[in-house]
Amino acid sequence: MNRRQWLFRAISMPALAVAGAALGGIFAQVWLAAGRFSSRHWSDVTAVDSLPEQGTSAFPGQRVALLCRGEDIGALSLECPHLGCLVNAVDQGFFCPCHGSEFASSGKVLSGPASRDLDWLPVRIQNGRVWIQGGTRLDSPLWVKRG
Ligand code: FES
Repeated sequence: MNRRQWLFRAISMPALAVAGAALGGIFAQVWLAAGRFSSRHWSDVTAVDSLPEQGTSAFPGQRVALLCRGEDIGALSLECPHLGCLVNAVDQGFFCPCHGSEFASSGKVLSGPASRDLDWLPVRIQNGRVWIQGGTRLDSPLWVKRG
């Protein structure tokens, strides 16, 4: 090995090791993020007893609104179907602050630019708590009994 080859190896080997470690770190972060947003992820939203008999309770942190109709509970996504902004629960239903789409309290789109209704989410009651499954969208409402 001549001097030039030795110098090339002395510089390139540590650089390759650093690049490999950086790529490994990036891959690990992407892997962990994908797990957090998995469609199989169930989230505990609230206690059933804390919900009203009738009406809508919004949980922006979990991007969901729980609709209460007597014994029935359903879950609507608060993500606007236009570009994904978080819609606000208002007296008449839901309003998107980004571009002004309006939705009825049932999630039905009333005015655009959104071209479709809010998504329904899988919901279940377990041990007196309401759980929703993020990342999974339903075409029609799923109502569960308070139990
Ligand atoms: Fe809601 Fe555009 S993101 S109207």
